Amino acid sequence: MSRWINEFLELLRFPSVSTDSRFDSDVKACAEWLSSRMITAGLEGHVHETEGHPVVIGRNKHESGRPTVLVYGHYDVQPVDPLELWDSDPFEPVIRDGKIWARGATDNKGQFFSHLCGIAETIEERGVLPVNLIILLEGEEEVGSPNLRPFLEEHRSELACDVVVVSDTGMVAPGVPTMTYGLRGITCCEVSVRGPARDLHSGVYGGAVANPAAVIGQLVASLHDRDGRVAIEGFYDDVAPLEEWEREMWTGVPGMGDDDLLTVTGSPQLVGESGFTSAERLWARPTAEVNGIWGGYQGEGSKTVLPSEAFAKLSFRLVPRQFPVDIMDKVEAHLRDHCPPGVSLEVMRGHHGQAYHTDPHSSYGNAAQAALEDTFGTAPWLIREGGSIPIVQDFKEVLGVDTLLLGLALPDCQIHSPNENFTVANFEAGIRLNRVLFEKLAATGMGS
Ligand code: BES
Ligand code: ZN
Repeated sequence: MSRWINEFLELLRFPSVSTDSRFDSDVKACAEWLSSRMITAGLEGHVHETEGHPVVIGRNKHESGRPTVLVYGHYDVQPVDPLELWDSDPFEPVIRDGKIWARGATDNKGQFFSHLCGIAETIEERGVLPVNLIILLEGEEEVGSPNLRPFLEEHRSELACDVVVVSDTGMVAPGVPTMTYGLRGITCCEVSVRGPARDLHSGVYGGAVANPAAVIGQLVASLHDRDGRVAIEGFYDDVAPLEEWEREMWTGVPGMGDDDLLTVTGSPQLVGESGFTSAERLWARPTAEVNGIWGGYQGEGSKTVLPSEAFAKLSFRLVPRQFPVDIMDKVEAHLRDHCPPGVSLEVMRGHHGQAYHTDPHSSYGNAAQAALEDTFGTAPWLIREGGSIPIVQDFKEVLGVDTLLLGLALPDCQIHSPNENFTVANFEAGIRLNRVLFEKLAATGMGS
């Protein structure tokens, strides 16, 4: 174990922040390191350049008569700001209280690297893996995977497989195995409101011209009604209804009670769309979120300025049957309808991805459930997740295969936040899970 942990710490030291071009060479160095790590494990390893960050592919020697399993992960990480809220350097991992603290520890380096360690261990012990393996690690998941679908299309035959395995989702509570069979989709945009040609004296001109900061506030406020529903016309038109069995099963999920959510989020109260439990709101209902809003004076004290422009970054989480482009058309129409006179409005569309939904009881799904049960000693909970991994639906559309979402992220792992961490226990569990999973997938007798 100490060997795997030391290698994991090495991986965490790469500041592979995909959104910030200052880290481009670190992202590339991380890809090179992973490819050589695959080669040391006894696999082929290649770094494929793309128009953005590289894709790293590893594979073993494929034999007929056994399933081909594609393990997906992402080695890019979110930015670290606000840096001052970290208790230790985000790229100098430390082990404290049974946890490894660093940016990317859970999302997603620790989760996919435990698979790679499991693979390396099996090859060391047995010389071969029980399945045909393709391991695909991308460097752009946190920026919407803009180059991965084209990569899948271009390499369709080399990437042909029977099933995809992804550990990039959550466990409902420590020690409680969880299989995810649905992910929300997403569509993002940036809204700009421009008024006067320059910042103005708010006393001399305030009252006679529109204030873009106030308009941004108005537009953002117009997104919801008083019942917490999204107030955009047609937003819910295509929403797939929740199944009764899901509603029932989700009432008992550990870690998803209101008290648990209050503790884990640190919020004073839970709020949301009326008529739904928190689990339902998070996993099966679409939302509108404001991810950033700015404009006007932000410095110390006051400044009587009427800002010439103001901005907001919005994202919408989607559920099955909602389509990102259709939803963004509706969002844009709503914003134009609600924009008062006196300003110009611009909506810049960002990345998007469709929701994903699959049958947890397929042959491979059942094998994965059995592997989780073996690894953790109890049967897994079946859930959907609120987060998005857009490429999962692309695996379905381009490669024609389902994805097993076997998450190892714990509720307090703080992904995307300061003090991200991954427990040593889950890192070890990931290694065991990989080993038993491949055995169970091979035992299905499926594959060509
Ligand atoms: N690992 C997360 C997604 C996730 C987290 C799924 C927890 C389920 C539970 C992934 O790295 C992520 O953050 N995805 C982004 C996607 C976006 C940038 C396209 C997300 O959900 O915001
Ligand atoms: Zn993430």
